[in-house]
Amino acid sequence: RHHVLSLADFTAAEYDTVLQTAASFQEVLSRRTKKVPTLQGQVVANLFFEPSTRTRSSFELAAKRLSADTLNFAAATSSMTKGETILDTAKTYLAMGTDIMVVRHREAGVPNAIAQEMDRLGVRVSVLNAGDGQHEHPSQALLDLFTICSLIDPNHPRLELLKGKKIAIVGDILHSRVARSNIWSFIASGAELHLAAPPTLLPKLFAEYILEESGEEDAGTQGHWDAENEEDTGTKGHNNVVGKNENLSASPHPPLSASSSQLFLHWQLEPALQDADFVMTLRLQKERMTAHLLPSLREYHQLFGITTTKLQLCKPNVKVLHPGPVNRGVEISSELMDDPEFSLIQSQVTSGVAVRMALLYLLGSGKA
Ligand code: CP
Repeated sequence: RHHVLSLADFTAAEYDTVLQTAASFQEVLSRRTKKVPTLQGQVVANLFFEPSTRTRSSFELAAKRLSADTLNFAAATSSMTKGETILDTAKTYLAMGTDIMVVRHREAGVPNAIAQEMDRLGVRVSVLNAGDGQHEHPSQALLDLFTICSLIDPNHPRLELLKGKKIAIVGDILHSRVARSNIWSFIASGAELHLAAPPTLLPKLFAEYILEESGEEDAGTQGHWDAENEEDTGTKGHNNVVGKNENLSASPHPPLSASSSQLFLHWQLEPALQDADFVMTLRLQKERMTAHLLPSLREYHQLFGITTTKLQLCKPNVKVLHPGPVNRGVEISSELMDDPEFSLIQSQVTSGVAVRMALLYLLGSGKA
């Protein structure tokens, strides 16, 4: 693999390579010096066309811990304000000898476009997607995976540790690139994945599939979706079913048969939380919403906000994740966010450096 743009085609072996490599870098980071000479002489350019706190800093620190030289670009203070294009910006960094480009953009597909341009030019530059629009955020999902797997087995984090675990992803799934990458990795692990959101914040594709499967319009408030059939479902149905099902939350039906599926959809929180091992909560991404989609924040917190009280439905040792940034008191209570018994939010940030070291190392050393 020359670029990391999506987790859709990641193999189990690739997940395990990243997890194991990250574990060895976690050990390096626990040493006094914290640094290895692995990427000495290489250049890592952080091309962030959209704001970031943790992803950009984490990639920068990861590159520095590997002894690479780093270049940081922010669109607002760049020559894009004078009309320079994205591809010309990337080619400018190429001309300075960049080996790895870490790219974030508010539009889906920009990292892919830069990767295609580098391939077309015949240069050996790797592109890492650091979050593109509503599409994917692979390094975030890999650090989420690492955080969970290394909690279960710190010495040997691996994909199979999640087999049979119940994982709930709650919130604005429609606009979440993190959720899309999480879905690929958690499904690949063999986990039982439950998505819970108001009907307006679940991708329409999923809701259409529920209706298609049930053969009726009022299919109920729950359903399941088979990741392998995603492409098929995309060609089915043109009804505005998300809107229709908004009326159904008052009359829940039993869930559809789920015996062959790992993915469950819920338009209520409680079935997703019931006996969950891990709960991932997501921010309402107001910057990607049209105004009519934005729910009342108080009502949203009541219905879908995660609190210590609601966690009582989960397994007793449940852990809570959040990719950040957090809107305290909306998708998660402030008290729960800061509760070290349940919250893995700070561990996720810490894990991010080791996981991004692993990605940069695997791409930079040609071992990916
Ligand atoms: N999780 C995440 O992508 O955070 P930032 O937007 O701060 O990078």
